[in-house]
Amino acid sequence: MALFKLVFLSFFAIAAATVNAKPNLVFVLVDDWGFADVSFRNPAISSPHFESLATKEGLILDRHYVFKYCSPSRASFLTGRFPHHAHQWNPPQSGLVGANINMTMIPAKLKTAGYKTHMVGKWHEGFYLKKFLPINRGFDTMSGFLGGGEDHMTQEIICAVDYWKNDAIDTRNGTYDDYTYVEDLSKILTNHDPSDPFFLYLPLHNVHAPLQAPDEFLNLYPVNSTCSDRRTIQAMVSVADNVTGFVVKMLKDKGMWDNTLIVVSADNGGAPCEGSNYPLKGSKMTFYEGGVRSLAFVSGGLLPSDRRGKKTEGFIHIADWYTTFCQLAGVDSDDSGAGKFPVDGMNVWPILTGENEKTQHEQIPLGYHFDFSSNSNT
Ligand SMILES: *[C@@H]1O[C@H](CO)[C@@H](O)[C@H](O)[C@H]1NC(C)=O
Ligand SMILES: *[C@@H]1O[C@H](CO)[C@@H](O)[C@H](O)[C@H]1NC(C)=O
Ligand SMILES: *[C@@H]1O[C@H](CO)[C@@H](O)[C@H](O)[C@H]1NC(C)=O
Ligand SMILES: *[C@@H]1O[C@H](CO)[C@@H](O)[C@H](O)[C@H]1NC(C)=O
Repeated sequence: MALFKLVFLSFFAIAAATVNAKPNLVFVLVDDWGFADVSFRNPAISSPHFESLATKEGLILDRHYVFKYCSPSRASFLTGRFPHHAHQWNPPQSGLVGANINMTMIPAKLKTAGYKTHMVGKWHEGFYLKKFLPINRGFDTMSGFLGGGEDHMTQEIICAVDYWKNDAIDTRNGTYDDYTYVEDLSKILTNHDPSDPFFLYLPLHNVHAPLQAPDEFLNLYPVNSTCSDRRTIQAMVSVADNVTGFVVKMLKDKGMWDNTLIVVSADNGGAPCEGSNYPLKGSKMTFYEGGVRSLAFVSGGLLPSDRRGKKTEGFIHIADWYTTFCQLAGVDSDDSGAGKFPVDGMNVWPILTGENEKTQHEQIPLGYHFDFSSNSNT
């Protein structure tokens, strides 16, 4: 065993040396995205970029698990802990709280390996104190919003505008927010030196409420008399597809794609009526598979070519990306210490390559019963 490990390690060292660059890592999180709300599961959706990324250039993750709603899934990705070891609340409207400050988030880990770290989109991990802001949790830059949802056109929530560049307000009134992300992404990628390793966290606002979509995407779909919001969700998926396609195109144009791993996932299942989780039971806010088994796939040049166009039944939890990204970047994923649970995530690279598709988790706890309405478990 020891000999095998030694041989394996030196082989890995040689392989890594010939690649001669740390991989670019991109994580796209689509908000409230139904399991079946993508063209390769439902032809009533137009998502050409997702389709090609997943079914031609990538691997579908058929058993990818998340929390049943928003913020805990994000915390789990960012900290590598299962939701019940990170937090199960959505940040309340008042209270000076945010994701456990003792935990090292994935961008901070990757920075120690020389990564340039960017976030564009929705944070939802606390913002009442500056220490909870993305730029103080490891991101070099952040553009987007800090709460859980807002008007897609005015960026207003209740009576305030929530759109930021790092820690300064950046009003974008009048532009649909996923389009502002494209503007921000264009600048980030244009300015990026491809010899530096790149980490992008892209938690899109789509397809989260309020249900709004630009006409050019709405017009792709017929009016639905059973569920009037269905058409808007379909259009919002197409917008998310468009933004992801833009990022992929820029990575290809800059010659970065061959050394990139991109992960695309929902943060939780779709809502009933407007979203579709077919054939799974349940929806967002439930522990049924329709709430927690997310639409997910990986793509990018880093994925071995013999895995493209396939799907895996290997069980993966969203916390696993922390450990996997650390492993790929050559960073120790350990984050144990006082005042925090240790990292739960497991390296899933062997599942992605097909070397071993069996999860290394003995069990994958989805969460404990938690009273969402009280939001008191801070
Ligand atoms: C956004 O623009 C509209 C139209 O000009 C205006 O009525 C509204 O007050 C603006 N909202 C904010 C938050 O600036
Ligand atoms: C995104 O949509 C816009 C507007 O329809 C279009 O001009 C652009 O080519 C699309 N981008 C991609 C990558 O599909
Ligand atoms: C209308 O919406 C319902 C509920 O989401 C869905 O089952 C049905 O397929 C939709 N019809 C069309 C024509 O898209
Ligand atoms: C962070 O660690 C300190 C020191 O161990 C502890 O007192 C505090 O409660 C921890 N914070 C959280 C949110 O667990």
